[in-house]
Amino acid sequence: MRSNSLAASLAGLLALSLPAAQVAATKMTSHAHSMFHKEMKFLDNIYDPVAGYLYYFYYPLAAGPHETRSTVWYATGLLQRNEGNDTVNAIRIIKDVIANQEKNVSAQWYGDYTVYPEQPTVGSPSYAPVIYNSWDPNWRGFIGTTLMIIYEEFGSLIGKDVQDLILESLYNNTIGDSYRVGGVDGDNLYPSYSNPSLMRAVVTGWTGNHCNDSNMTAAGETYAQEIIDLFNMNDTLSEFNVPTYYGVSLNALTLWSKYMPETSVMRQNGPRMVGDIWTAFGDFYNAKLRNLAGPWDRSYGYDMNRYVAIMSLYIWSLVGREHVFSGAGTEDPWLLTHADDGEFIPIVATLSEYHKSLVPDAVFSQLKSFPANASRTVHRQAYTPPFDLEVRNITTWLTPDLQIGGDSYNQTVVGGASQDSTSFSPAVVHWHRNATALQDASVGYLSLHPSEMSMQASVAANSLNLTYPAGNASSVFTFVVSSNPLGGRRDVTGLADIDGINITVGAGSTVNPEPVVAFCGLVGGTCSLIHNFEFWNLTFTMPANSTALPQLNLNIQLP
Ligand SMILES: *[C@@H]1O[C@H](CO)[C@@H](O)[C@H](O)[C@H]1NC(C)=O
Ligand SMILES: *[C@@H]1O[C@H](CO)[C@@H](O)[C@H](O)[C@H]1NC(C)=O
Ligand SMILES: *[C@@H]1O[C@H](CO)[C@@H](O)[C@H](O)[C@H]1NC(C)=O
Ligand SMILES: *[C@@H]1O[C@H](CO)[C@@H](O)[C@H](O)[C@H]1NC(C)=O
Ligand SMILES: *[C@@H]1O[C@H](CO)[C@@H](O)[C@H](O)[C@H]1NC(C)=O
Ligand SMILES: *[C@@H]1O[C@H](CO)[C@@H](O)[C@H](O)[C@H]1NC(C)=O
Ligand SMILES: *[C@@H]1O[C@H](CO)[C@@H](O)[C@H](O)[C@H]1NC(C)=O
Ligand SMILES: *[C@@H]1O[C@H](CO)[C@@H](O)[C@H](O)[C@H]1NC(C)=O
Ligand SMILES: *[C@@H]1O[C@H](CO)[C@@H](O)[C@H](O)[C@H]1NC(C)=O
Ligand SMILES: *[C@@H]1O[C@H](CO)[C@@H](O)[C@H](O)[C@H]1NC(C)=O
Ligand SMILES: *[C@@H]1O[C@H](CO)[C@@H](O)[C@H](O)[C@H]1NC(C)=O
Ligand SMILES: *[C@@H]1O[C@H](CO)[C@@H](O)[C@H](O)[C@H]1NC(C)=O
Repeated sequence: MRSNSLAASLAGLLALSLPAAQVAATKMTSHAHSMFHKEMKFLDNIYDPVAGYLYYFYYPLAAGPHETRSTVWYATGLLQRNEGNDTVNAIRIIKDVIANQEKNVSAQWYGDYTVYPEQPTVGSPSYAPVIYNSWDPNWRGFIGTTLMIIYEEFGSLIGKDVQDLILESLYNNTIGDSYRVGGVDGDNLYPSYSNPSLMRAVVTGWTGNHCNDSNMTAAGETYAQEIIDLFNMNDTLSEFNVPTYYGVSLNALTLWSKYMPETSVMRQNGPRMVGDIWTAFGDFYNAKLRNLAGPWDRSYGYDMNRYVAIMSLYIWSLVGREHVFSGAGTEDPWLLTHADDGEFIPIVATLSEYHKSLVPDAVFSQLKSFPANASRTVHRQAYTPPFDLEVRNITTWLTPDLQIGGDSYNQTVVGGASQDSTSFSPAVVHWHRNATALQDASVGYLSLHPSEMSMQASVAANSLNLTYPAGNASSVFTFVVSSNPLGGRRDVTGLADIDGINITVGAGSTVNPEPVVAFCGLVGGTCSLIHNFEFWNLTFTMPANSTALPQLNLNIQLP
């Protein structure tokens, strides 16, 4: 008895004297460690301690409002750091976000979280429920997976009450998410919508397990199996070659691999799927240009040196910042466009050491350098039902200083599954330009802005041929083209004025050989920025009344 109580009080003393941070924090890679602490310092600056939320950080900053999703990511970072009031603040965030979760079981947005805490009530007279606007169904997945990470990694810090609250929240979240059916009520959640479908499967299956709801567990497993079957067709997600959303998908698959029981198809397949995604990524990645070669199913920019793609954060966590952004240490994520995606850093960092164990060895060297004088041509297929009428054929040719990628597709809608012609980028060229001593390492790019539901792209060394099989005299080929770097030509009047690359219209083309040129500029020009990138808009038109199939053959050479 006596010795027992002595042991008990010793144990109590030990528990008190052990710094909680050592007990709770996950192991991060050394590269993730510095990335994490840098970003947390920044997030501390936009944390409003009165509200208990981060400010809504988007360029330009919204005047006043806070934001829900990034605040929950920050809460994960607070628990990982666990200094001073970090844990107290994290618990407050978790409770407040769950308090604002939608509680009306009949609403389509049941179990979802607010986009920002000040927003009017969704479905009230002045605030119509507009999917992906006044409410965002994917936030069940984003916030749900984050609450799972908090529960699994920091359960001892937040305590049983908060863990139970998280389970209750995820239970409602999952029921609400089960209302989502692609093609019904304006929703688009098919298994091919890879990033949210991967999140749905794991939140559903995990919550079913933890709440002893076998029906919910089975729903998660069944949905996961549909995703796996689709993946197995071409060893890829339908959302293929995507600089931002691969990161979201990899995070979801990390949860499949780490938190699901061995009996789950998610645990059984997650590590292989992570490996396959990284293998494809390595094949399409050019470490010299620090860019994923195109084509991209969805992209939020054209040059990864100039915007925050979540895959850049993964690369940073694996091999270091110097392999990610060309700026010499001055360009922190919050100085680039799409800077708000840097707010995902706490998530990438917290699971970085575990995630690293799933990355195939061969990929690390591909992330660090592109062999001098080497070239490779990569062929892949990908399929996105119900938007693809045929499997897509992707061919990309890469060399250290020039890369060309094209996608042959036949789809039901312009812009593919995302129905967004600003992010679907079916033909992309990058080159290393050396126009001036000022920016001798900068990257030039050209990206087709899609305007047709089908295209045939043919890619070989120094050659990109594009045809619209269903096109006619009114078809156009519009390219988003980088502005020349500082010190280069400020005005572009045709292909010959593009710095660092020699592009000519080749034999067999049926377009007018001279493009119509427009500038889509920051403070002027005749068209709008895309993803905050200004660009030259070079549009090739067809001769009036032409009966030929629209065809544009480009010869593309480094000077
Ligand atoms: C922690 O919170 C308390 C109470 O809100 C406050 O007085 C104190 O200054 C905070 N400490 C730090 C390190 O922020
Ligand atoms: C719950 O949502 C349903 C469907 O949107 C709506 O008809 C009903 O009025 C809501 N109930 C409350 C209490 O807001
Ligand atoms: C979950 O939803 C129910 C209604 O079905 C509600 O009573 C409860 O408060 C919700 N729980 C949370 C944590 O929002
Ligand atoms: C079983 O789970 C599915 C998916 O979550 C849901 O649609 C269905 O209503 C549930 N059935 C029961 C009996 O709980
Ligand atoms: C890709 O998937 C399609 C559709 O199922 C199939 O026809 C094709 O053979 C697959 N290609 C490869 C290389 O696996
Ligand atoms: C892609 O190639 C396959 C043959 O491998 C073909 O069946 C399919 O039609 C092609 N897709 C497109 C959009 O051309
Ligand atoms: C860039 O241009 C400078 C000056 O013309 C030249 O000395 C240098 O070798 C070039 N660098 C590359 C990588 O082409
Ligand atoms: C593009 O078309 C030209 C002219 O027909 C041809 O010489 C070239 O090989 C084609 N390139 C590709 C990649 O198909
Ligand atoms: C696209 O696929 C559909 C269904 O297979 C086919 O009928 C149509 O001809 C194809 N369109 C083009 C432009 O190839
Ligand atoms: C550009 O490339 C074309 C062929 O692709 C070639 O005829 C021409 O001489 C090149 N021009 C320059 C300036 O290198
Ligand atoms: C490109 O310029 C043309 C005019 O030449 C314009 O009609 C079109 O909207 C512009 N496209 C984009 C994406 O800016
Ligand atoms: C194109 O066709 C229209 C009517 O069919 C005709 O008026 C016009 O002159 C034609 N244009 C050219 C350049 O042949």
